[in-house]
Amino acid sequence: MSQKRIGVIGGDGIGPEVVAQAIKVLSAATGGDAFVFTQLPWGAEHYLQTGVTVPEGEFERWRREFDAIFLGALGDPRIPDMRHGRDILLGARMRLDLFINMRPIKLLDTSLTPLRDRAPEDIDYVIFRENTEGLYVGMGGQLRPGTRHEVATSAMIATYRGTERIVRAAFDHAVEHDLGRVCLAIKHNAIPHAHGLWNRVFQEVRTEYPTIDSSQLYADVAAMELVRDPTRFDVLVTSNLLGDILSDLAAQTVGGLGVAPSGNIHPGQVSLFEPVHGSAPDIAGQGKANPLAAILTAAMMARHLGYGEDAGRIERAVQMLIREGVTTPDLGGSETTVSAGDAVCRRL
Ligand code: NAD
Ligand code: IPM
Ligand code: MN
Repeated sequence: MSQKRIGVIGGDGIGPEVVAQAIKVLSAATGGDAFVFTQLPWGAEHYLQTGVTVPEGEFERWRREFDAIFLGALGDPRIPDMRHGRDILLGARMRLDLFINMRPIKLLDTSLTPLRDRAPEDIDYVIFRENTEGLYVGMGGQLRPGTRHEVATSAMIATYRGTERIVRAAFDHAVEHDLGRVCLAIKHNAIPHAHGLWNRVFQEVRTEYPTIDSSQLYADVAAMELVRDPTRFDVLVTSNLLGDILSDLAAQTVGGLGVAPSGNIHPGQVSLFEPVHGSAPDIAGQGKANPLAAILTAAMMARHLGYGEDAGRIERAVQMLIREGVTTPDLGGSETTVSAGDAVCRRL
């Protein structure tokens, strides 16, 4: 297989700490030079020093020069409006048209779930979050800003094409992975225009997949069901903001943000992989960050690029570690970010 070129953005806070462990594990699993990594400096520090969040032409360069992008996290208390995060992360999602935000929710060990009497086979599904539309497009504005008569708007966008492709991707994923059920979670009762479109598109597309058991829940009820009975989900498809919220909630049912991977994907094009968590300023620089989310994200990226066997080995090594209780403090252990990464390498 040809060598895979990965652009790496460590980013801010715990981002660089967990990314270093993920690269170490991926290199160990694939035997050294199957993946080559190019560090990219984009993040808070670069922005504060140069005023540039991400240079002109950078996303086009990624398409030419990389097979995938691996990102740690962005977010810095010195940049309260998250300008750089929007330019870099939301910029990549929009400009590279990474319309699938795929967030697997898989319980690796019974000890990790706060849900009563749940075992690994009970919580194993994937969230397909729409990633280029909804409330994230940045359309809107302010009238009379800074006054008590201020008006602010943020438009929610749903297009037929954008909705159809994420719904179809969810069904295709179910077919390809022998998963029986696809569930839609939206709020067309409260948001008749944009989510009404989602509802109609879902009804249309589902007829093309007669072997898949399709259902729908209002997103508020879906949040409840993720806690009450996670066994009922295989693939959950939802809009951008709802997917953001539901995926953090779902992550906590399997151990929290320290073990939640994700991929921002456009099939066949350069895609971006990142843990679900943010830069965690509260624990940055203390060696406390759990690197497993980033390590599982590296496995996801490896699988996406054709290294499925190595990905499986990484996932099994992570699972062993959790079962042995060799974990960072968020999971009740006493490992550091680096020692947890080393432990994964040894299990490999
Ligand atoms: P966060 O995900 O950074 O942290 C939430 C909580 O989870 C914190 O208590 C943190 O310590 C804990 N946590 C997160 N990752 C962890 C890990 N790997 N190991 C152990 N504990 C972990 O969310 P936040 O605090 O709301 O946001 C901090 C910054 O990150 C903000 O600027 C936010 O905008 C940004 N953010 C970025 C991304 C991203 O880059 N993809 C995602 C979410 C938030
Ligand atoms: C995520 C994050 C981002 C989002 C933020 C940092 C803009 O929370 O990737 O889940 O809301 O999508
Ligand atoms: Mn989020």
